[in-house]
Amino acid sequence: MDKFMEIENSLEWPLFGEEEEEAVLRVIRSNQLFAANEVRSFEEQYSDFIGVDFSIGVGNATQGLHLALAALEIGVGDEVIVTPYSWISSASCTLMQNSVPIFCDIEDKTFGLDPKQVEKLITKRTKAVVCVHMFGYPCRAIELKEVCKENNLHLIEDNSHAHGAKIRNNYTGTIGSISVASLHQRKSLCVGDGGIVCTNNRELRDKIYRLRSFGDKELSYNYRMTEFAAAIGKVRLAKLNHHNAKRISNARLLEKIFEDNNFVKVLKAEKDTQSVYYAVLLVLNRSLDLEFEQLPYCNNPKTAIVRWTWEPLHKNSNFDINNIPARGYPWEFEHYKNEKRWNVPKLKIAEKYLNKRIIEFYVHPTFDKDKIKTIGEQLNLQIKRKAISV
Ligand SMILES: Cc1ncc(COP(=O)(O)O)c(C=O)c1O
Repeated sequence: MDKFMEIENSLEWPLFGEEEEEAVLRVIRSNQLFAANEVRSFEEQYSDFIGVDFSIGVGNATQGLHLALAALEIGVGDEVIVTPYSWISSASCTLMQNSVPIFCDIEDKTFGLDPKQVEKLITKRTKAVVCVHMFGYPCRAIELKEVCKENNLHLIEDNSHAHGAKIRNNYTGTIGSISVASLHQRKSLCVGDGGIVCTNNRELRDKIYRLRSFGDKELSYNYRMTEFAAAIGKVRLAKLNHHNAKRISNARLLEKIFEDNNFVKVLKAEKDTQSVYYAVLLVLNRSLDLEFEQLPYCNNPKTAIVRWTWEPLHKNSNFDINNIPARGYPWEFEHYKNEKRWNVPKLKIAEKYLNKRIIEFYVHPTFDKDKIKTIGEQLNLQIKRKAISV
C-alpha cells in the first residue's frame, strides 16, 4: 500500500457498511454515474438538514471555494481576507481567481478569525472574508457577518470541519452569503471525495450551478459531484446527528480526564454555540516538547489520533511573495506592484498558538471509549510530567 493510502485508512474512521454498499450498487444498477438524480436529491436533503434554500454538490471543497469566489466575481485587483489557521484551500482559492489573500489574525477563544482584526484590514480592494470553523468549533461568524455587512463585503464560511455545529440554534454554514464544506474521506460527513456549496441567494445558486458544469458564457468548469458520492452522502447524512452526539460525548470524557491539569485546557465552544468536535482541541499554557509516539496506538505520527495542530498558513511558501508563489500571479499584475502589505504579516495569536501549543485529539464516533480514555489519561500524565520538569 502506498503512503497516501496508508494515511487515509488507518484512523478507524470512517467505517462504511451495508447501507453505503447498497447505495453504491443502486448507482451502478441505474447505469447513470455522473451527476443526476442522486446528486439532486443529496443537494435537497443537505439543504433541508442545514436549513438553506440551495445546495450544490461539487467534486471537493477546494472546487467549491473556487466557485464561491468566481460566483462573487472576485478577481484581479481584489483582496480577500483569510485565516492563517486552516487547510491551504481556504486561502489558495483566492489565487485561483488571481486575487490576493490578506491573512488576518485569529482570536484565542475559537481560533477563528478575529472580527476586530478583520475590520482593520479592510480596504477599497477588499471583496470578501473567508472564515473557517476549525475542528468543528464555531468561529465568530455572526460578528464577522456584521462587519461584512457594514463594509459591503461577502462572508464565505468554510464549514468543512463543522457539519452539524451550531451558533445560536442555527447550523454553521447558513450565516455567510455562501458556505462550502468538504465531504472528504476523513471529515465527519464523508463520501470519499466530495463537497457541498450552500446559499440562500437564488442568483448566486444559479451562477454556481452554471460555473460548476460548463454552463456559463464566461469561463466555467467541470466541478461536478459524482452519483456515487451523492448516494453515499445521503446514507451518511442520515447518520450525522447520531455520530455528532457520540463525538460530543467523547469530548465530555476528555474534559473530565484533563480537568485536574493546570497546564492544559480542553477547548470549549463559546456561549450559545455547539462544537461537533471533528477533533477536540487541547490548548497548552506554554509550548512543550511532547512525545505523542509514546502514547498507546500513537506510534506512527502520521496516523496517530493525537497530534500537533497545523502550522500557520501565512508562513506557507505558496503565499510568500519573495518565493514567486502561484507561478508569479497574482502579485505580478500591474495593480499589485510595490504593495508592501502583501509581505508575510506578523500575526501574534496565530504564531503564539500554532507552534506546539494546540493538540488535536480525534474522537471519531467509531473509536472505542476505553481507548480514548487510555490515551487521554496517559497524555494527561505526560503533560504534567513535562511541564513540571522544564
Ligand atoms: C478547513 C478545510 N477547508 C477546505 C478543505 C479542502 O477540502 P477538499 O479536500 O474537499 O478539497 C479542507 C480539507 O482538509 C479543510 O480541512
